[in-house]
Amino acid sequence: MPIKILIVGAGAVGAFYASRLALVPSTQVSVICRSNYTVVHANGFSISSPKYGSYTFTPHHTFANPRQAIDSKIKWDYIVVSTKALPDVSDDSEILEGLVGDGTSIVLVQNGLGVEEPYLKRFPSAIILSAVTIVSAAQTEPGIIKHNRWTRISVGPYLPGSTSWAAIESNKRFVQLLQAGEIEDAEEYSHSKLQMVRWHKIAINASMNPSAVLSNGTTNNAMVLDPELYIHLKAVMDEVLSTAPKVLGTPLPKEFATSEAILASTQKNTSGSKPSMLLDWENGKRMELEVILGNPIRIAREKGLEMPRLQTLYALLRKAQENRDQAKSQSHL
Ligand SMILES: NC(=O)c1ccc[n+]([C@@H]2O[C@H](COP(=O)([O-])OP(=O)(O)OC[C@H]3O[C@@H](n4cnc5c(N)ncnc54)[C@H](OP(=O)(O)O)[C@@H]3O)[C@@H](O)[C@H]2O)c1
Ligand SMILES: *[C@@H]1O[C@H](CO)[C@@H](O)[C@H](O)[C@H]1NC(C)=O
Ligand SMILES: *[C@@H]1O[C@H](CO)[C@@H](O)[C@H](O)[C@H]1NC(C)=O
Ligand SMILES: *[C@@H]1O[C@H](CO)[C@@H](O)[C@H](O)[C@H]1NC(C)=O
Ligand SMILES: *[C@@H]1O[C@H](CO)[C@@H](O)[C@H](O)[C@H]1NC(C)=O
Repeated sequence: MPIKILIVGAGAVGAFYASRLALVPSTQVSVICRSNYTVVHANGFSISSPKYGSYTFTPHHTFANPRQAIDSKIKWDYIVVSTKALPDVSDDSEILEGLVGDGTSIVLVQNGLGVEEPYLKRFPSAIILSAVTIVSAAQTEPGIIKHNRWTRISVGPYLPGSTSWAAIESNKRFVQLLQAGEIEDAEEYSHSKLQMVRWHKIAINASMNPSAVLSNGTTNNAMVLDPELYIHLKAVMDEVLSTAPKVLGTPLPKEFATSEAILASTQKNTSGSKPSMLLDWENGKRMELEVILGNPIRIAREKGLEMPRLQTLYALLRKAQENRDQAKSQSHL
């Protein structure tokens, strides 16, 4: 029996990992597309990568919408969600209604904090796996995926206040499939360590991304070379890194990079890469503000902890986004 995998949100990240999973002989990988359905249905995805070369990924099934996936009557072993996490725009757990069966594990490959909760609420008895990736990839044209660099993906079962051997086993199998697809740095984590990885990652994203937008589009490298912005970025990172252990009830592992180390490596890197939040802002798209800023602030607040620097960035950028969207909708009247 092949392992049946469904990708929901086959954009840059989803299509890249799907193309690696599809190389494993025991898998059948299908996708639900949206705007790029026609192109992908006709030609599949073209992937180019400095590590894996250029190749085509033809999904087992390419569905135009969730209904078609339900009508296929396939029992999914894994449903991988790799849409952008925009809980203020849509609850994407709804897409999975009618697709999650007894043996289905839901894998969330999304940035930020608190992305698991809507899925846990809707599917309380399903296995949920939580994944963080540092891959750099983009869909440059419909169906054309450019993998730039890095492959690491960290995956852990989402088990707040519970244990489940089935979830741990499913997690292990999923990581093994990624490794079999030559993602050598796919890593298996426990629930608690994966949440530490999420907090550590948002120390970078919650400092750099909103600051890049609010400083009128400054690149990460240019920001850390500016003395005042350096102080600002370090203080935001330290705020997140010192709040995380209090929320999680355990110190972050020693091997996680300190704020100084992150800033030093960003200082050395003179290439002008833009964080995706800045690209979204420049393209007039919604930013992943809630999962990168709003949720961490609210999760800390529930424990009686404030992150004032993060809160300031969140309040300002949320309002800027609201004003931009209002201006846009008025210009369409
Ligand atoms: N790109 C990176 O380098 C990178 C790195 C690390 C982490 N991440 C994280 O990975 C996640 C995914 O990012 P991404 O860059 O892959 O985004 P992306 O390229 O925009 O891909 C998201 C895809 O989901 C599709 N989608 C959204 N809602 C859908 C729906 N209801 N039904 C079907 N398809 C739907 C979108 O279709 P449409 O084209 O129709 O909108 C798009 O193809 C984000 O949380 C991001 O922060 C990305
Ligand atoms: C998908 O295709 C549509 C229409 O062809 C295009 O406008 C859009 O930018 C594409 N999406 C991505 C993520 O490339
Ligand atoms: C930067 O400022 C210029 C001039 O006001 C504006 O056109 C541009 O959109 C701004 N860029 C960002 C990322 O805010
Ligand atoms: C610096 O960034 C560029 C592109 O953004 C990337 O190609 C390069 O690998 C990075 N270097 C380091 C040391 O991270
Ligand atoms: C998170 O930060 C990394 C490193 O700066 C960047 O490549 C990525 O685009 C950021 N993610 C988002 C959602 O902005």
